[in-house]
Amino acid sequence: MKTVQDYLNGGACDIAPLLSLVLEKSNTELYAQNDYALNNKQQQQLTNFIQQREQGMPFAYLSGKKGFYHLDFKVTKDTLIPRPETELLIDITLDLLNKNQKYQVLDLGTGSGIIAITLADINPRWKISATDFSQAALDVAKTNATTHINFTQGSWFDAVADQTFDLIISNPPYIEENDIYLDDLAHEPQTALVSGKDGLDDIRLIIDNAPEYLNKGGYLLLEHGHNQQQEIEQLLLVKFKNIQKFKDYNNNNRAILAQIR
Ligand SMILES: C[S@@+](CC[C@H](N)C(=O)[O-])C[C@H]1O[C@@H](n2cnc3c(N)ncnc32)[C@H](O)[C@@H]1O
Repeated sequence: MKTVQDYLNGGACDIAPLLSLVLEKSNTELYAQNDYALNNKQQQQLTNFIQQREQGMPFAYLSGKKGFYHLDFKVTKDTLIPRPETELLIDITLDLLNKNQKYQVLDLGTGSGIIAITLADINPRWKISATDFSQAALDVAKTNATTHINFTQGSWFDAVADQTFDLIISNPPYIEENDIYLDDLAHEPQTALVSGKDGLDDIRLIIDNAPEYLNKGGYLLLEHGHNQQQEIEQLLLVKFKNIQKFKDYNNNNRAILAQIR
Protein backbone atom coordinates (compact mmCIF):
# COMPACT_ATOMS: atom_id res chain seq x y z
CA MET A 1 0.00 0.00 0.00
CA LYS A 2 1.35 3.43 -0.89
CA THR A 3 1.06 6.28 1.56
CA VAL A 4 0.35 9.96 1.00
CA GLN A 5 4.07 10.65 1.52
CA ASP A 6 5.03 8.08 -1.16
CA TYR A 7 2.86 9.91 -3.68
CA LEU A 8 4.13 13.33 -2.58
CA ASN A 9 7.70 12.10 -3.06
CA GLY A 10 6.78 10.86 -6.56
CA GLY A 11 6.36 14.48 -7.68
CA ALA A 12 3.56 13.96 -10.24
CA CYS A 13 1.95 17.12 -11.64
CA ASP A 14 -0.50 18.65 -9.12
CA ILE A 15 -0.04 15.65 -6.84
CA ALA A 16 -1.00 17.46 -3.61
CA PRO A 17 -4.29 18.87 -4.98
CA LEU A 18 -5.04 15.51 -6.62
CA LEU A 19 -4.51 13.72 -3.29
CA SER A 20 -6.75 16.27 -1.59
CA LEU A 21 -9.41 15.64 -4.22
CA VAL A 22 -9.32 11.84 -4.00
CA LEU A 23 -9.04 11.65 -0.21
CA GLU A 24 -11.39 14.62 0.41
CA LYS A 25 -8.84 16.15 2.78
CA SER A 26 -7.58 19.72 3.06
CA ASN A 27 -3.95 20.45 2.23
CA THR A 28 -3.20 20.80 5.94
CA GLU A 29 -4.81 17.44 6.75
CA LEU A 30 -2.90 15.84 3.90
CA TYR A 31 0.51 16.85 5.26
CA ALA A 32 -0.49 16.21 8.90
CA GLN A 33 -1.60 12.66 7.99
CA ASN A 34 1.09 11.90 5.41
CA ASP A 35 1.50 8.30 6.66
CA TYR A 36 -2.10 7.52 5.59
CA ALA A 37 -2.12 4.44 3.29
CA LEU A 38 -4.47 4.75 0.33
CA ASN A 39 -6.88 1.84 -0.26
CA ASN A 40 -7.17 0.16 -3.69
CA LYS A 41 -10.07 2.29 -4.89
CA GLN A 42 -8.29 5.50 -3.90
CA GLN A 43 -5.08 4.36 -5.61
CA GLN A 44 -6.96 3.54 -8.82
CA GLN A 45 -8.75 6.88 -8.86
CA LEU A 46 -5.52 8.76 -8.17
CA THR A 47 -3.62 6.88 -10.90
CA ASN A 48 -6.41 7.72 -13.34
CA PHE A 49 -6.29 11.43 -12.39
CA ILE A 50 -2.46 11.53 -12.61
CA GLN A 51 -2.64 10.06 -16.13
CA GLN A 52 -5.28 12.56 -17.20
CA ARG A 53 -3.20 15.49 -15.86
CA GLU A 54 -0.16 14.11 -17.74
CA GLN A 55 -2.27 14.18 -20.91
CA GLY A 56 -3.09 17.85 -20.31
CA MET A 57 -6.55 17.56 -18.75
CA PRO A 58 -7.02 20.77 -16.72
CA PHE A 59 -7.30 20.21 -12.96
CA ALA A 60 -10.64 22.07 -12.89
CA TYR A 61 -12.25 19.41 -15.09
CA LEU A 62 -11.11 16.71 -12.65
CA SER A 63 -12.29 18.56 -9.55
CA GLY A 64 -15.41 19.83 -11.40
CA LYS A 65 -15.09 23.32 -9.97
CA LYS A 66 -13.18 26.57 -10.17
CA GLY A 67 -13.13 29.67 -7.97
CA PHE A 68 -13.96 33.05 -9.51
CA TYR A 69 -14.20 36.31 -7.54
CA HIS A 70 -15.89 35.33 -4.25
CA LEU A 71 -17.72 32.19 -5.46
CA ASP A 72 -16.98 28.60 -6.51
CA PHE A 73 -18.40 27.52 -9.87
CA LYS A 74 -19.23 24.09 -11.21
CA VAL A 75 -17.46 23.49 -14.53
CA THR A 76 -17.83 20.68 -17.05
CA LYS A 77 -16.32 19.96 -20.46
CA ASP A 78 -19.21 22.00 -21.91
CA THR A 79 -17.99 25.17 -20.22
CA LEU A 80 -14.82 27.19 -20.49
CA ILE A 81 -12.80 27.14 -17.27
CA PRO A 82 -13.11 30.60 -15.68
CA ARG A 83 -9.94 32.69 -16.07
CA PRO A 84 -8.69 35.10 -13.42
CA GLU A 85 -8.34 37.84 -16.11
CA THR A 86 -12.14 37.88 -16.46
CA GLU A 87 -12.44 39.22 -12.89
CA LEU A 88 -11.40 42.54 -14.48
CA LEU A 89 -14.88 42.75 -16.08
CA ILE A 90 -16.46 42.49 -12.62
CA ASP A 91 -14.23 45.24 -11.20
CA ILE A 92 -14.96 47.55 -14.15
CA THR A 93 -18.72 46.99 -13.79
CA LEU A 94 -18.69 47.61 -10.04
CA ASP A 95 -16.81 50.89 -10.63
CA LEU A 96 -19.19 51.91 -13.42
CA LEU A 97 -22.65 51.22 -12.01
CA ASN A 98 -24.20 52.53 -8.81
CA LYS A 99 -24.90 49.74 -6.34
CA ASN A 100 -28.19 51.27 -5.20
CA GLN A 101 -29.70 51.89 -8.61
CA LYS A 102 -31.63 49.36 -10.67
CA TYR A 103 -29.99 48.37 -13.97
CA GLN A 104 -30.64 45.83 -16.67
CA VAL A 105 -27.40 43.98 -17.36
CA LEU A 106 -26.74 41.32 -20.02
CA ASP A 107 -23.93 38.73 -20.02
CA LEU A 108 -23.58 37.42 -23.59
CA GLY A 109 -21.96 33.97 -23.85
CA THR A 110 -22.19 33.22 -20.15
CA GLY A 111 -20.56 29.75 -20.15
CA SER A 112 -20.51 28.55 -16.53
CA GLY A 113 -22.26 31.83 -15.64
CA ILE A 114 -19.37 33.51 -13.83
CA ILE A 115 -20.00 37.12 -14.91
CA ALA A 116 -23.79 37.14 -14.55
CA ILE A 117 -23.83 35.15 -11.32
CA THR A 118 -21.04 37.10 -9.61
CA LEU A 119 -22.74 40.43 -10.40
CA ALA A 120 -26.18 39.18 -9.35
CA ASP A 121 -24.76 37.81 -6.12
CA ILE A 122 -23.09 41.14 -5.28
CA ASN A 123 -26.02 43.31 -6.44
CA PRO A 124 -29.41 41.62 -6.09
CA ARG A 125 -31.11 44.89 -7.17
CA TRP A 126 -29.73 44.63 -10.71
CA LYS A 127 -31.80 42.67 -13.21
CA ILE A 128 -29.35 40.29 -14.85
CA SER A 129 -29.82 38.28 -18.04
CA ALA A 130 -27.41 35.69 -19.40
CA THR A 131 -27.27 33.87 -22.72
CA ASP A 132 -25.31 31.18 -24.49
CA PHE A 133 -25.87 29.22 -27.66
CA SER A 134 -24.79 26.08 -25.80
CA GLN A 135 -27.73 24.62 -23.87
CA ALA A 136 -25.30 22.33 -22.04
CA ALA A 137 -23.33 25.36 -20.79
CA LEU A 138 -26.54 27.12 -19.75
CA ASP A 139 -27.59 24.03 -17.76
CA VAL A 140 -24.34 24.27 -15.80
CA ALA A 141 -24.77 28.04 -15.32
CA LYS A 142 -28.27 27.49 -13.92
CA THR A 143 -26.91 25.14 -11.26
CA ASN A 144 -24.29 27.77 -10.33
CA ALA A 145 -26.76 30.64 -9.89
CA THR A 146 -27.14 31.93 -6.32
CA THR A 147 -30.06 34.23 -7.12
CA HIS A 148 -32.53 34.84 -9.96
CA ILE A 149 -31.01 35.31 -13.41
CA ASN A 150 -32.90 35.36 -16.69
CA PHE A 151 -31.11 32.62 -18.71
CA THR A 152 -31.93 32.29 -22.41
CA GLN A 153 -30.46 30.20 -25.19
CA GLY A 154 -29.59 31.50 -28.65
CA SER A 155 -26.85 32.91 -30.83
CA TRP A 156 -25.73 36.28 -29.46
CA PHE A 157 -28.62 38.80 -29.57
CA ASP A 158 -31.14 36.26 -30.94
CA ALA A 159 -31.50 35.12 -27.34
CA VAL A 160 -32.72 38.55 -26.16
CA ALA A 161 -34.81 39.80 -29.09
CA ASP A 162 -36.83 42.96 -28.26
CA GLN A 163 -35.00 43.58 -24.96
CA THR A 164 -32.70 46.48 -24.09
CA PHE A 165 -30.02 46.86 -21.44
CA ASP A 166 -28.01 49.49 -19.57
CA LEU A 167 -24.86 47.38 -19.81
CA ILE A 168 -23.95 44.53 -22.13
CA ILE A 169 -20.93 42.51 -21.04
CA SER A 170 -19.25 39.75 -23.00
CA ASN A 171 -16.17 37.59 -22.80
CA PRO A 172 -16.69 36.13 -26.27
CA PRO A 173 -14.46 33.68 -28.17
CA TYR A 174 -11.50 35.76 -29.43
CA ILE A 175 -8.65 33.41 -30.41
CA GLU A 176 -7.47 33.21 -34.04
CA GLU A 177 -8.35 29.88 -35.66
CA ASN A 178 -4.70 28.97 -36.36
CA ASP A 179 -3.25 30.16 -33.05
CA ILE A 180 -0.67 27.64 -31.81
CA TYR A 181 -1.79 28.37 -28.23
CA LEU A 182 -4.97 26.38 -29.04
CA ASP A 183 -2.99 23.13 -28.65
CA ASP A 184 -2.76 23.85 -24.92
CA LEU A 185 -6.51 24.41 -24.75
CA ALA A 186 -7.56 21.23 -26.56
CA HIS A 187 -9.67 19.97 -23.64
CA GLU A 188 -11.89 23.07 -23.54
CA PRO A 189 -14.83 23.68 -25.93
CA GLN A 190 -13.34 25.17 -29.11
CA THR A 191 -16.59 27.06 -29.78
CA ALA A 192 -15.91 29.01 -26.58
CA LEU A 193 -12.44 30.00 -27.77
CA VAL A 194 -12.08 30.40 -31.52
CA SER A 195 -13.55 33.22 -33.60
CA GLY A 196 -12.48 33.15 -37.23
CA LYS A 197 -9.19 34.02 -38.93
CA ASP A 198 -8.30 37.05 -36.81
CA GLY A 199 -10.24 36.08 -33.68
CA LEU A 200 -12.59 39.02 -34.13
CA ASP A 201 -15.62 37.52 -35.92
CA ASP A 202 -17.79 37.40 -32.79
CA ILE A 203 -16.57 40.74 -31.42
CA ARG A 204 -17.41 42.44 -34.76
CA LEU A 205 -20.90 40.93 -34.68
CA ILE A 206 -21.48 42.00 -31.07
CA ILE A 207 -20.25 45.58 -31.70
CA ASP A 208 -22.39 45.91 -34.85
CA ASN A 209 -25.57 44.71 -33.16
CA ALA A 210 -25.19 45.98 -29.59
CA PRO A 211 -26.55 49.52 -30.27
CA GLU A 212 -29.99 48.06 -31.02
CA TYR A 213 -30.03 46.39 -27.59
CA LEU A 214 -28.72 49.25 -25.48
CA ASN A 215 -30.76 51.82 -23.56
CA LYS A 216 -29.94 55.52 -24.01
CA GLY A 217 -26.47 56.13 -22.51
CA GLY A 218 -25.89 52.37 -22.21
CA TYR A 219 -22.49 50.68 -22.21
CA LEU A 220 -20.77 47.76 -23.92
CA LEU A 221 -17.94 46.01 -22.05
CA LEU A 222 -15.80 43.41 -23.82
CA GLU A 223 -12.91 41.16 -22.88
CA HIS A 224 -10.48 40.64 -25.78
CA GLY A 225 -7.06 39.31 -26.79
CA HIS A 226 -3.93 41.23 -25.75
CA ASN A 227 -3.22 42.33 -29.35
CA GLN A 228 -6.79 43.25 -30.37
CA GLN A 229 -7.49 46.46 -28.42
CA GLN A 230 -6.57 48.97 -31.13
CA GLU A 231 -8.64 47.28 -33.80
CA ILE A 232 -11.63 46.94 -31.47
CA GLU A 233 -11.38 50.63 -30.56
CA GLN A 234 -11.66 51.51 -34.28
CA LEU A 235 -14.73 49.28 -34.62
CA LEU A 236 -16.35 50.89 -31.57
CA LEU A 237 -15.70 54.47 -32.70
CA VAL A 238 -18.39 54.15 -35.40
CA LYS A 239 -21.30 54.06 -32.93
CA PHE A 240 -19.76 54.51 -29.47
CA LYS A 241 -18.08 57.26 -27.45
CA ASN A 242 -16.23 57.56 -24.11
CA ILE A 243 -14.03 54.57 -24.85
CA GLN A 244 -11.97 53.31 -21.90
CA LYS A 245 -9.25 50.67 -22.25
CA PHE A 246 -8.06 48.35 -19.49
CA LYS A 247 -5.09 46.08 -18.77
CA ASP A 248 -5.23 42.83 -16.80
CA TYR A 249 -3.05 42.02 -13.77
CA ASN A 250 -0.31 40.78 -16.15
CA ASN A 251 -0.27 44.23 -17.74
CA ASN A 252 -1.78 42.92 -20.99
CA ASN A 253 -4.49 44.89 -22.80
CA ARG A 254 -7.59 42.90 -21.88
CA ALA A 255 -10.88 44.83 -21.80
CA ILE A 256 -12.63 47.78 -23.41
CA LEU A 257 -15.67 49.79 -22.30
CA ALA A 258 -17.67 52.12 -24.53
CA GLN A 259 -20.86 54.18 -24.26
CA ILE A 260 -23.46 54.36 -27.00
CA ARG A 261 -23.52 57.72 -28.82
C1 LIG B 1 -14.74 32.68 -23.87
S1 LIG B 1 -16.19 31.78 -23.40
C2 LIG B 1 -16.67 32.74 -21.99
C3 LIG B 1 -17.52 32.00 -21.01
C4 LIG B 1 -17.76 32.78 -19.70
N1 LIG B 1 -18.46 34.02 -19.96
C5 LIG B 1 -16.44 33.06 -19.04
O1 LIG B 1 -16.02 34.24 -19.02
O2 LIG B 1 -15.83 32.12 -18.53
C6 LIG B 1 -17.32 32.26 -24.66
C7 LIG B 1 -18.74 31.75 -24.48
O3 LIG B 1 -19.51 32.21 -25.60
C8 LIG B 1 -20.35 31.17 -26.04
N2 LIG B 1 -20.64 31.39 -27.45
C9 LIG B 1 -19.86 31.12 -28.51
N3 LIG B 1 -20.48 31.46 -29.65
C10 LIG B 1 -21.70 31.96 -29.29
C11 LIG B 1 -22.80 32.47 -30.01
N4 LIG B 1 -22.80 32.53 -31.35
N5 LIG B 1 -23.87 32.90 -29.32
C12 LIG B 1 -23.88 32.85 -27.96
N6 LIG B 1 -22.86 32.36 -27.21
C13 LIG B 1 -21.78 31.91 -27.89
C14 LIG B 1 -19.60 29.89 -25.76
O4 LIG B 1 -20.48 28.79 -25.66
C15 LIG B 1 -18.90 30.25 -24.44
O5 LIG B 1 -19.67 29.86 -23.34
